[in-house]
Amino acid sequence: MKSQQGPNSWMILLIVVGFSFSTGYLIGFLGKDVLFTSDPEAALHLDSHGDQAVSRKIQATSPLATVKDDRLSGHSVHTLVTSSGDGYQNFQTRIMYASYKMVQQMPGGEHMTGFTRILHRTVPDILMEEVPTFHVWDVLKPQCDGWCDYPVANRPNAIMQYFRAAAANRSMINGAWILMAECDYVWMAPARAPGDAYDLTVPGWQFYFDYIMPQHADAAPHIQKLLGEGKNIATVPASGPAPAILRFDEWMVIGTDYEKASATMEADEAMKKRLGWVREMYAWDVAVALHPEYKVLTEKPPQSRLMVQPPFDEGMFNASFCHYTWGVLYHEGPPSKGGKQIYRWEKRDFSDIKHVIKPAKLPMPPPYRDGLILEFDAPLTPKRHDLNVLYLTQLNKAIDNLTDLTEYAAKVNAEIIPAFKNSKEDRLTKMAMNNIRYMHWS
Ligand SMILES: *[C@@H]1O[C@H](CO)[C@@H](O)[C@H](O)[C@H]1NC(C)=O
Ligand SMILES: *[C@@H]1O[C@H](CO)[C@@H](O)[C@H](O)[C@H]1NC(C)=O
Ligand SMILES: *[C@@H]1O[C@H](CO)[C@@H](O)[C@H](O)[C@H]1NC(C)=O
Repeated sequence: MKSQQGPNSWMILLIVVGFSFSTGYLIGFLGKDVLFTSDPEAALHLDSHGDQAVSRKIQATSPLATVKDDRLSGHSVHTLVTSSGDGYQNFQTRIMYASYKMVQQMPGGEHMTGFTRILHRTVPDILMEEVPTFHVWDVLKPQCDGWCDYPVANRPNAIMQYFRAAAANRSMINGAWILMAECDYVWMAPARAPGDAYDLTVPGWQFYFDYIMPQHADAAPHIQKLLGEGKNIATVPASGPAPAILRFDEWMVIGTDYEKASATMEADEAMKKRLGWVREMYAWDVAVALHPEYKVLTEKPPQSRLMVQPPFDEGMFNASFCHYTWGVLYHEGPPSKGGKQIYRWEKRDFSDIKHVIKPAKLPMPPPYRDGLILEFDAPLTPKRHDLNVLYLTQLNKAIDNLTDLTEYAAKVNAEIIPAFKNSKEDRLTKMAMNNIRYMHWS
């Protein structure tokens, strides 16, 4: 289980991913649309969704969507998160789940009735006991336990392995709404349900990402190919599978096409190259567009009831969690002109297993003063600073509540993983060893 000691695989990947995300953000930040090309003509084709939330009408009612689960209130939320179980994601997952438990104790937290981590990894990892986990061990790309060309490729299939298991055993899901999260979120307030899940006129929600541009001239031919000829690509939203909060039946139907689109994509070199590191998000968007019978609202801050993205957003507004995909980097002067960095919190610095086992508190940013500059030469404003302080305080509260995993990690390496590997390659045996034993609500 020493994959963490390899050449910091996630770090390498995430610098690359981080770079493309950053590029996307930078472009969004500047209000320009040139992610794929700097050709200004091509850029003009963008922005069909622009600042508008995209709303689609229910045209038909799927027979699936009429099933009511009497166990669950229409406002209950089950949260899912996916992970490959390496050091980088486990550091984040521990904080995410600890902050989840913190907000669960706030008024409104009683609606957060289920939590499951979908672990896609060939062997168990060191969070099996701390975080309720569904272990998908027969992954598409086993090499993605460590380094592989595109670790996210395992995600759609792992998500759907979970949903297919839940379709056979509905007690695996304990919320009428199901929220897909990522490890690098920190909870600030209880999850909001979009409304009564049994009222089919209530739309689910997803997040609008500026750097996802399905209608862009460079992306469009590939999106059209996935969507099918004759279908209107203007209906494809600029979102991704997380964060998104939908009903079980919507996850089953849209998720199945997300998995299919993702598989088609992975088999098409030109498409992979063009859609790049965020291609799995496009697979999701195509799947959503294929199902106009389900109404989904795509929102960004300040409207988003899901998340905000410090250090660039200027408050929580109505969101429940922060996504720290970008670092909180303070500079004296623009970094592009060599401005000196005086403060740094950057998740990509935390991929070593030691940060998982015994996370240390993070230093807080210095007090606000005029003239400090963030990444991409974006100015620090008092509101941006306040949000940074708010969410870093929450991160530290969560970290404060984490136990030392030294002993359990040793047990995982010495006993749990060897036993798992030696067990028969038989689904039920492994279910008994992992999923069922570790499935619990909290
Ligand atoms: C901190 O952790 C303990 C033990 O895991 C738990 O009982 C407690 O509720 C947690 N506190 C918060 C605020 O989540
Ligand atoms: C169904 O899921 C529940 C909750 O995870 C679990 O306790 C139970 O053992 C599962 N039942 C079967 C037959 O797998
Ligand atoms: C936040 O929610 C409230 C209540 O639904 C609404 O009145 C307000 O406009 C929302 N704020 C933003 C920024 O959307």
